[in-house]
Amino acid sequence: MDVSNVSYLDGCQNSRKSRIRCYLYINAPSRTAATTGMVANRPGTPRPVKRFFEWPRIGSLVHIVVGITGASGLRYGVRLLECLEHETTVVVSVEAAAIAEGELRVSKREIEDKAQNHYENDDLSAPLASGSFKFDALVIVPCSMSTLSKISCGVADNLITRTASVALKERRKLVLVPRETPLSTIHLQNMLRLSEAGAVIMPACPAFYPSPENVDDVVDFVVGRILDTVGQEHDLFQRWDGQYKQL
Ligand SMILES: Cc1cc2nc3c(=O)[nH]c(=O)nc-3n(C[C@H](O)[C@H](O)[C@H](O)COP(=O)(O)O)c2cc1C
Repeated sequence: MDVSNVSYLDGCQNSRKSRIRCYLYINAPSRTAATTGMVANRPGTPRPVKRFFEWPRIGSLVHIVVGITGASGLRYGVRLLECLEHETTVVVSVEAAAIAEGELRVSKREIEDKAQNHYENDDLSAPLASGSFKFDALVIVPCSMSTLSKISCGVADNLITRTASVALKERRKLVLVPRETPLSTIHLQNMLRLSEAGAVIMPACPAFYPSPENVDDVVDFVVGRILDTVGQEHDLFQRWDGQYKQL
């Protein structure tokens, strides 16, 4: 195939079929022209050819593990569990459970009930602890600096840090959402090392261009950006389209 004729590749997740559906537009001058069909109606202009094919399951997200650790911002993790449409497994650390009670008046049990599966953080014989057990992504949100530091050094002393270690060695998606400020040089060095090892470092850092009206909007921005990284469509916030929302 002459790649110069390929205008764009459009992919979307299909978790039920465990496939990524892709549309390949050939001879289409631009994405907009191809999708609106403008060029197709103009005489003498080559018609974009839409071809459908499926990639195998590799890369398709079907099982997401959520680790919740003892940093402020527990509501990010809880909201993520409410929004994920894939199979979910959650592990809540002891410190996270205490902070959840304080920040949200929510028990560890109530958090665990939001996922299909859950394990104790000290259960190192849980399936997640083995690279042979299949999951597609691990999101640690919020991620304490303690947990982040351990992962960056290869320490795997609980189920969350062990699952992160598995994600890195198996080259699976690892997303860390730290909440700490200011950051020490050691924090920054640990984050750099993790980023170089393939992890996505995604500080809980809301944007204000969507003009949030309340704390839920602020939380949804961060959770929406996490969903972006794991490939799930959502409408948790209004994306930047070049203009501020009318207040
Ligand atoms: C109320 C409270 C808030 C905390 N907030 C943070 C935080 O925002 N970021 C952080 O890195 N650690 C924070 N910590 C410290 C962690 O909870 C502590 O380092 C703990 O050992 C983390 O354990 P874990 O990573 O196994 O959950 C907080 C602790 C408490 C009690």
